[in-house]
Amino acid sequence: MKDLITLGEFVIKKQHERADATGDLSQIFGAIRLASKLVHREINKAGIADIVGLSGIENVQGEQQQKLDLYANEKFKAALAARGLVCGLASEEEEHFVEFTQPLSRGSKYVVLIDPVDGSSNIDVNVAVGTIFSIYKRVSPPDGPVMLEDFLQPGTEQVAAGYVIFGSSTMLVYTTGNGVNGFTFDPSIGVFYLSHENMQLPEDGRIYSVNEGNYVHFPQGVKRYIKHCQEIDPDSSRPYTSRYIGSLVADFHRNLLKGGLYFYPSYAGNPNGKLRLLYECNPIAMIAEQAGGMASDGRRRILEIPPEELHQRTPFFVGSRNMVKDVERFIAEEDR
Ligand code: AHG
Ligand code: MN
Ligand code: MN
Repeated sequence: MKDLITLGEFVIKKQHERADATGDLSQIFGAIRLASKLVHREINKAGIADIVGLSGIENVQGEQQQKLDLYANEKFKAALAARGLVCGLASEEEEHFVEFTQPLSRGSKYVVLIDPVDGSSNIDVNVAVGTIFSIYKRVSPPDGPVMLEDFLQPGTEQVAAGYVIFGSSTMLVYTTGNGVNGFTFDPSIGVFYLSHENMQLPEDGRIYSVNEGNYVHFPQGVKRYIKHCQEIDPDSSRPYTSRYIGSLVADFHRNLLKGGLYFYPSYAGNPNGKLRLLYECNPIAMIAEQAGGMASDGRRRILEIPPEELHQRTPFFVGSRNMVKDVERFIAEEDR
């Protein structure tokens, strides 16, 4: 049997390969790993909570769903605060960023942005959800309070990014800007093992993932691209297959492994689409690029968009390089 490498071992090994590494990131990953295990346990209990709900407790499905978002938010926050390497956190679940004021966290170098539970409407129907995270070095003086500008950095400045997918198995996928690696959780011993080394997003894909129920509201270029996906063309293996889970993490993860395009375009009345730039699109974009894929808002590279506010939204097209280029071409044709 081949030797298995754990996530902890892998992070430390990578740290030793870099002369400038201080070990800080290893400790941040330790916090993320711990919180992920707690969320894993909670998600796997969600079904049991539903059974309890049927026996009389009011509104458990709705509450459970909301509780998990908040539970995950609290666990990630607590785990990160406890290690003293992160001075603040911004989350989908918090209107403002949170400053960690414990003496341990003062003067620490990093900030974290997080979507604690992505795809949360899928929890009560037993479908995969995820957690998305993004790590930056703070830019404000280390002896002062953490500032909004620490969080409003373009995605190109990310030091690390990743996601955890709670699917048929739980996996953690991350990058520190030197390729993408995936680790599968063995719940019987509570350890993540390296299972997907140096992940590569296929250059071409045959899967498109979009909420087609919004079709009538999409911009003309996007509508034409969807029709293009559905046309018969044996040379490019069209028509493509449509797959949409409604969890960005799960849809992206599938396309990362198989090749494909996930998109959430602008739609009527929502010129910036639905997804959030800082804690959904940027981390997924960094992983996509590090795996050889692309991420765009339809016209420009996601990672170069200057953020203006914490909960900023953006149209999002991510996945196989040639598919992102194709959809950009359809959009550009309409712009002309
Ligand atoms: P969240 O659960 O964090 O709010 O994110 C849900 C997002 C994303 O994961 C998913 O792809 C998209 O919303 C689904 O939206 P629609 O239901 O509009 O397709
Ligand atoms: Mn989300
Ligand atoms: Mn969420």
